Amino acid sequence: MSRAFIAALSALALVPFAAVAGDLRSDANAVFKPITPAAATKAVKNNDVTPAKIELGKQLFFDPRISSSQLISCNSCHNLSLGGVDAGSTSIGHGWQKGPRRAPTVLNAVFNVAQFWDGRAEDLKAQAKGPVQAGVEMNNTPANVEATLNSIPAYVASFQKAFPGDNKPASFDNFAKAIEAFESTLVTPNSRLDKFLGGDEAALDATQKKGLRLFLDKGCGGCHDGVNAGGGGYTQFGAVEKPAAAILPEADKGRFNVTKSPADVFSFRVAPLRNVALRAPYFHTGQVWTLEEAVNVMAKSQLGLELAPDETTAIVAFLGALTGDQPKVEYPVLPGRTNATPQPQQ
Ligand code: HEM
Ligand code: HEM
Repeated sequence: MSRAFIAALSALALVPFAAVAGDLRSDANAVFKPITPAAATKAVKNNDVTPAKIELGKQLFFDPRISSSQLISCNSCHNLSLGGVDAGSTSIGHGWQKGPRRAPTVLNAVFNVAQFWDGRAEDLKAQAKGPVQAGVEMNNTPANVEATLNSIPAYVASFQKAFPGDNKPASFDNFAKAIEAFESTLVTPNSRLDKFLGGDEAALDATQKKGLRLFLDKGCGGCHDGVNAGGGGYTQFGAVEKPAAAILPEADKGRFNVTKSPADVFSFRVAPLRNVALRAPYFHTGQVWTLEEAVNVMAKSQLGLELAPDETTAIVAFLGALTGDQPKVEYPVLPGRTNATPQPQQ
């Protein structure tokens, strides 16, 4: 998303975007980029993505023993059978506590500028250390995670293989790096949009093409752009008109909590829209249960527009074309505990 676009949007407030209809494919190619798995591995910084790390990271992602209750794994809230999220609204974690925000998807997260709704973690390895320690998520400590991993010889061997030469391979840092490597494989190429961008005219039907045209001409693509159709920058939720308090409550000031800049009050990362049809409910509060309503909220709050019902229908149909091939993940068999493995805590 371009900063210039946001500046222009704030300045123009209610002025809708001029429809400069060119060739649909070239207009779309100017806004979106196709997903390639190679680009995903390249997006990972300071962590070589190797098969040994990916395999280990997969085990850790599914292992509930990294939570203090030993009940909650990453997959509890980022369910890979549900588009990388939980069933909503905001996540339930340790002791049945309800957290303040909805879980964003781990699918294609590697392409986002930074992690979390407010971008407070620089990358996936920095992010992975958060939920383990968060009281409302896994409620654990790095020391207890390390004790657990080091008590299981098969894990120690896998860490040695994934981090050769490291004198403390089963460490919390390496745990995060292995998870990042696995997450970088969770990408969803070959959506109908990608096929259309590549030249397959029949990949989108007439309604989806109409929706794509509207998405571009109304100004959605000014924010939701690039490889992830979003995830590239931050903007105020309610740039033109604040949505209802249930959707955007006063208490959560978004990116302001990270930067402390008054300009960032209620600013959030532009949500990536790939696979969005798979993961209702919507927004960081998870209070909107249909894509139709989410699209109408966006049109009003970000662009000051009321969409006609057939426009909403077409945009929703287009958003369905952002669903790609879901990663094929074989459910891992986890190494068994030993007498030295710490027991679950309440
Ligand atoms: C955010 C991964 C455990 C709930 C995220 C993000 C990633 C991620 C990559 C950021 C995605 C993005 O910004 O696009 C993981 C991993 C976990 C884990 C690797 C295990 C170590 C959990 C658990 C819960 C949970 C157990 C629920 C209890 C959330 C929520 C957010 C989030 C609510 C958004 C928080 C915010 O923006 O403030 N997670 N997660 N996660 N995850 Fe997890
Ligand atoms: C979130 C669609 C315009 C910024 C979303 C979501 C959808 C969507 C479906 C929810 C995604 C999810 O929860 O995973 C659209 C459509 C638009 C549009 C169809 C045009 C009618 C814009 C514009 C901006 C923008 C112009 C920037 C000025 C955002 C942000 C979020 C978001 C910041 C996250 C809000 C939150 O904190 O929950 N968009 N959008 N969108 N969009 Fe848009």
